[in-house]
Amino acid sequence: MMVRVRVPATTANFGPAFDVIGIALALYNEVEVEPAESTEVEIAGEGEEILAATPSNLVARAALEVARAAHRRTGFHIRCRNRIPLGRGLGSSAAAIAGGLVAANAALGNPLPAEAVLDLAWKMEGHADNVAAALVGGAVLVDASAGRITWTRIIPTWDAVIVVAVPEFSVATTEARTVLPARVPLSDAVSNIGRTAQLVVAMLTGQVELLRTALADTLHQPYRRALVPGMDNVFEAARDAGAYGAALSGSGPSIVAVAPGAQAHGVGEAMVDAFARAGKRAKHMVLPVDESGAVAARI
Ligand code: HSE
Repeated sequence: MMVRVRVPATTANFGPAFDVIGIALALYNEVEVEPAESTEVEIAGEGEEILAATPSNLVARAALEVARAAHRRTGFHIRCRNRIPLGRGLGSSAAAIAGGLVAANAALGNPLPAEAVLDLAWKMEGHADNVAAALVGGAVLVDASAGRITWTRIIPTWDAVIVVAVPEFSVATTEARTVLPARVPLSDAVSNIGRTAQLVVAMLTGQVELLRTALADTLHQPYRRALVPGMDNVFEAARDAGAYGAALSGSGPSIVAVAPGAQAHGVGEAMVDAFARAGKRAKHMVLPVDESGAVAARI
């Protein structure tokens, strides 16, 4: 059976909710998968010049994980159409993993339940916020602290849009995690707990004004500042242009803002200008929240 999966980009952390909140965005990669004797990969779009079109490709590795977990001896022919920019904090690796897993599972007749797919995705990615949102869509709250994942999903009810400024340079998540401290002051943890609670209330009730304080963070952004030239100035430019708040998208370098719809493009341009003042070219996108996650269709 040949299937096509559409899998969304994701923005993680959203300020204070480090490794806990991922939000799916309406920017999609497509993965086509068909079981075959050997594994072959074709890639078009973002990353086509640098991604390995071999079985070591992340989409292929995810597909082969499904075959292994389902005790099937098979390879896959895989075709990727990529639109999510690589290494920018928009969940390109989560999309590759979620896309490969869901497509291979569907192509084999869904031998793995959804929980097993999420578990594999989490183990491949190392943290669960992006992969969970890429799999189920919406804003997903994950807890992986007890060695297994529990999650819940929210569709933000606020009357606002998400604006993403995407610079041309990339940051590897592995590097952006090595700059983080193993221990943090209790006051920093307490501050993030309070802000994450405000963020969730803002999503559930639509009290978007809460984002004026809720998007600040003390657990990861201050340590990642050195990897993202202009970070604080981009946050400030977004707020000055009318955004409720702004935050690093995942581990960066993209920056995500929440703004009233009428101000969205002004906020995006202000963020792009602020990146330019730091010597970095960028573009902006206004992206609705994706509510579907990774969806498989037979072709
Ligand atoms: N929560 C992860 C991190 C997301 O901040 O490292 C990576 O995109």
